[in-house]
Parts: sequence; C-alpha cells; structure tokens
Amino acid sequence: MMYPYQIKSIEQYQEAYQKSIENPEAFWEAIASHFTWHKKWDSVLSYNFTEPKINWFQGGKLNITENCIDRHLATRGEETAIIWEPNNPDEHTRVITYNRLHKRVCMVAQMLRNLGVKKGDRVCIYMGMVPELTYAILGCARIGAIHSVIFGGFSAQSIADRLEDAQAEFIITCDGAERGNKNIPLKSVIDEALIANKLVKKVVVYTRTRTPVSMLKGRDVWWEDEMEQAEHQVEKNGVVSFPAEPMDAEDPLFILYTSGSTGKPKGVVHSIAGYMLWANYTFLNVFQYQVGQIHFCTADIGWITGHSYIVYGPLSAGGTSLMFEGIPTWPDAGRFWEIVDKHQVNILYTAPTAIRSLMAYGLSYLVDKDLSSLKVLGSVGEPINEEAWHWFSQHIGKGKCPIVDTWWQTETGGIMISNLAGITPQKPAHATLPLPGVLPVLLDENGFEIVGNKVSGNLCIKLAWPGMIRTTYGDHERCKSNYFSTYPNLYFTGDGCLRDENGNYRITGRVDDVLNVSGHRIGTAEVENAINSHSGVIESAVVGYPHDMKGQGIYAYVIFEESNHDHQLTKQDILQTVTRIIGAIAKPDKIQFVNGLPKTRSGKIMRRILRKIAEGEYNSIGDTSTLLDPTVVDDIKKTAL
Ligand code: PRX
Repeated sequence: MMYPYQIKSIEQYQEAYQKSIENPEAFWEAIASHFTWHKKWDSVLSYNFTEPKINWFQGGKLNITENCIDRHLATRGEETAIIWEPNNPDEHTRVITYNRLHKRVCMVAQMLRNLGVKKGDRVCIYMGMVPELTYAILGCARIGAIHSVIFGGFSAQSIADRLEDAQAEFIITCDGAERGNKNIPLKSVIDEALIANKLVKKVVVYTRTRTPVSMLKGRDVWWEDEMEQAEHQVEKNGVVSFPAEPMDAEDPLFILYTSGSTGKPKGVVHSIAGYMLWANYTFLNVFQYQVGQIHFCTADIGWITGHSYIVYGPLSAGGTSLMFEGIPTWPDAGRFWEIVDKHQVNILYTAPTAIRSLMAYGLSYLVDKDLSSLKVLGSVGEPINEEAWHWFSQHIGKGKCPIVDTWWQTETGGIMISNLAGITPQKPAHATLPLPGVLPVLLDENGFEIVGNKVSGNLCIKLAWPGMIRTTYGDHERCKSNYFSTYPNLYFTGDGCLRDENGNYRITGRVDDVLNVSGHRIGTAEVENAINSHSGVIESAVVGYPHDMKGQGIYAYVIFEESNHDHQLTKQDILQTVTRIIGAIAKPDKIQFVNGLPKTRSGKIMRRILRKIAEGEYNSIGDTSTLLDPTVVDDIKKTAL
C-alpha cells in the first residue's frame, strides 16, 4: 500500500506547500476524501481568529475509531497495531493486532455505555502506559465521549482541579503503574483527588500491579468484570461489533490540560475531523512512515505527543505503534537501544532531554545493540542543542538516518515546523520548514510583521490549519486572550524564533512565563502558587535558568516569614508542598531565601532581573532605577545559588 498524499520529493513539498496556502480548501478536501465519513461535509473551511471560531468540514459526520481501526480490518486485520513493551524486560511483550484492537475498543465502548457514559460526557483517564490506556481512549471516541488523559505523574490536587474544570463524571484508572523501580499507586491518588469531588459517578479500575486498593461500593468497579460482561454483548457468533457513533466533524474529541503563563492549567480542546487529518498527515509526511514499519514514540500518552504519535497518527495510517511502559534508564541506560534491537524499530521519536541524559551515560550501553533497523530519528518538546543532535545522528543513526526536529505544541495538535525525513534538508538545531497548511510569521514587540530572512521575532501562525485548538474547555474567553489577542488575526505561539538566510526556522524557547523542564511545560505562576501555599511563605518568584540536562531548571526566590528558620528543612518542606500540589515534575531545582523581590513602583515583579541572577549574569542586569527599592538586587546577588 502506498499513501497517496505522502510527499516524495522536495519539488512535491514545494508544490504541496504552495497549494495548501493558496487554496487550503481544495488541498484539505482532497486529503479528507481518503477517510471514512458517514456524511460528507457541506463546506471545508470557515474561520475567524477574532472570536476565535474555527470550522473544518462543517456538516460532515464521522467517527475517528472507524478511521483508526475498522477501515484497516479487511486488509490489515491480522497485522500488528500495537506492540507493548513492559517496564520489566523479563515480562512478556504484548502484540495487539487490528482485529484484537477492534474487539477491545468495542468492549470498552460497550462497558462505558453500560456504566451510563453518554456522547459528550467527559471521561478522565489516569493510567500507566498499558495497552488498556489506548483501548480506553478509543473506547471513549467510539461512543463520542470526550477523553481527558492526565499524566500519571500529576498529584491528587492537580487531578482534582482537572476533574472539576472538565466537570468529569467518569474516571478510568489502574490500581498502580510501574515505572522503573517505582510503583505509583494510581488508584489511591484518585481516591485522594475525589475526597471533595461531588460529580464523579463511576471509577473503573484496571489491574496492573496488584497493589492493594480500596473499592468504594457503588462507585468503583473493576475493569476486568465490566469488560467480561461487555464481551458477551459485543460478540455474537464470533462476530464483534459495536456501532461507532456518527459524530460532527467539529465535535470535541479530547481535552488535554497544559500550562500557560497565568493561573491554573487550561483544557485545550481538539475536535475530531481536523485533528484526525492533522495527526495522520503530519505522521505520514514528517516520518515518511511506510506500511509495516515499527514506529516507537517514547512519549507518555499523558502528553500531546503520545496522543498524536502513539495513538491517532500511527493507527489512522494502519501503522504499527510501539508503546513502552517504562523509562529510558531502567534497568539500565541501554533500555531504548535494547527495545530498538529487540523489536527492530524503524522510527524512533524522542526528546532532547532523554538524548542528553543517555549521552551522559556514555557509549558502553550501545556496544552490543543492533540499531541497524533504524531509518528515521525524531526530536520533540524543546530546542535540541547541536551536541545532542550530532550524538543522536552519529551514535544512534550511525550517520545514515535523517533526524526530524519537530516543533509543535499541545495547542497545534500535531507537528507544524519540521523537515520531512530524507525529503527536505535537515539542519542541526533547526526545525527548518513549515508543513503544508502552516503559514508562520514573525512579529516584533510592536506588533509589526518582520519580513525577509536572517531575522528573529515572536512566532505566530497566520492561517487556520486543521489540527488547531478550538477552545479552552469551559472558558472560550481564555482561549481568545491567550492565543488570539496579543496580535490581531494571528495565533500566537508563545515562542521566540529565528529565520535564517534560507528561510529555515529555529525555535529559541518561550517568550512568556512558561518553562520547559525536561520537555515538560510548566507555568511559573503555577509553581509560585504552590510554593505560596506553604504556611511560612510570604511571597515567591519563579524563573527558569539553563540546565545541562533538563534544558531549563526551576529557580525559586522565596520570602519566608522568619529569617532564622532551618533552611534545609524548609526547602524540603517547600519541595514536598510543590510535589503535593502539582507533582514531582514541578519541583524547583534551586530555592533561594531572600528578604525582598525586585518590584516596580506599581508592584510588578521584575522577572528579567531575577532571570539574569539565576543565569549568573550579574553584569547584564540592566537598568534597576525603576525599582521601588534597587538595593534588593544586591542583596539577592550576595546569596545567589
Ligand atoms: O517552546 C516550544 C517547545 O515546547 C512547547 C510546547 O510544549 P507542549 O505543548 O508541552 O508540547 C510539547 C510537544 C509537542 C513549544 O511552545 N517545543 C516543542 N517542540 C520543540 C520546541 N522547542 C524547540 N524545538 C522543538 N522541536
């Protein structure tokens, strides 16, 4: 099988790009016609970036699970959809064919229906990386319920906030999750998250670790029991069926929470048809996926990367997706390479932070590993430094695999700027060129577009693309103010960006108060709120600083109520507080106790100054004359870490 809209040469890329910008409707209509629809659309695109209101394939009806599963069954039913590699290498791998995936997803859909889940209901999924997580996601989509996956590293408080925001009535979880030598008690975290919750009616618990759990009568049910019952309902005389709900193209598919520069995480909403097309099109073109290849995306499904490039991209293409339960460094730092060797992986898509950390372990873990099956390497989540890029290319790709440096965001649904593997030129540390459908522009701080090459500015997108964010759940105004108000009629990414002499884009990092720590997106305001909730803390300010391994580290300046406290102990308490409120991923790397923070006369914290101090750049702090009390800067410098 060939993929009809896979770009095969640089000329084809240029042609596709031009068409997609000049006539997006004709371009995307041709691609959409390759999918399974219950009813054809009335119009391809109408949108404005002021409300904003985005409408792709209006009037069309479809179900994404038919496109990810059913349409492959006739030709690829016995081919592998998912290879699952367990945390413990001694445990058995699981291989899930499209036929089996179909049956499981039908069973989950039936189970959810039995439990009272209806179209449009929000189902929160808090599970480890087990195949059942994929079944749960697709089971929701089959009946038109909106899934909201929460990463297994988030705390009970974070879950409680998300449940509340999404007004979720159903949860699917596991007893526990295995990650490295840790066992995370997921169900008990859910129990804690539900203490003050009044909405959740049912919690389904899948048994993974056999960790003891408490099951509340009437609310908590076992996945295994419910699925057994569902199996009898969906299978008649050996034939499995559960009719997929015909959904409107613009119905929401999922909510995924992500951090912004202010307040609590917001629920990014993606809609069905546009997201499906985008995940599929970008998957096929960026990675140049070929039928039968094994695609290994190392992300967790709790993040957008997992949604688009473990689940929806590969499955919509009838591909084989490898899902890994564990972490790169357990039982040792050769685990990724062992998996590549064992399963003869063809495409490896991972994050710079993982590359940097494995690089630091040295080459000995590579010695006895056969990596010759690899054809394409990919990077995502943060800028990749040149050293890591070259190491990845040379030692993993053996100089023969193209590396795709893919820039995108939770809000964009899929890859936006990237080279196409082996088709368009790569350039270390550059995401390079926009995908068809993506029209990037750079803006200066006064809102003027910067034209020409060898320039830098704030990255915005000028045209609507199918996979873009539709709203932030329950608060459309927030979507508008976050993304569409900084620059009129443009989507603002929050990233700074360079355009080189050949028009290649290089993302330089966030220009707002969002940190990127080991590829995880964390808002400084969120961390500050968590720190401030510690009883002795009067005020705090959080900034990022360059960190060799994590990309960015978290630096917290804290004013504590008394000066003669035990600093070590208080730091531990603050870390514990942040872990409890957000999760361990948001723990500051450095905490400095200070007597005051640099504030303007209007009371605004001058983060620019704090960033400079955190970076150790005392000589370029700049003008401090507008500060209410410029002497605080010297005080802070004296005890800086
Ligand atoms: O700053 C950019 C950075 O990650 C941010 C998006 O984070 P998130 O929504 O969690 O999605 C991560 C996975 C898509 C962006 O605003 N980022 C992502 N990819 C790259 C990147 N920065 C530089 N180069 C990339 N390839």
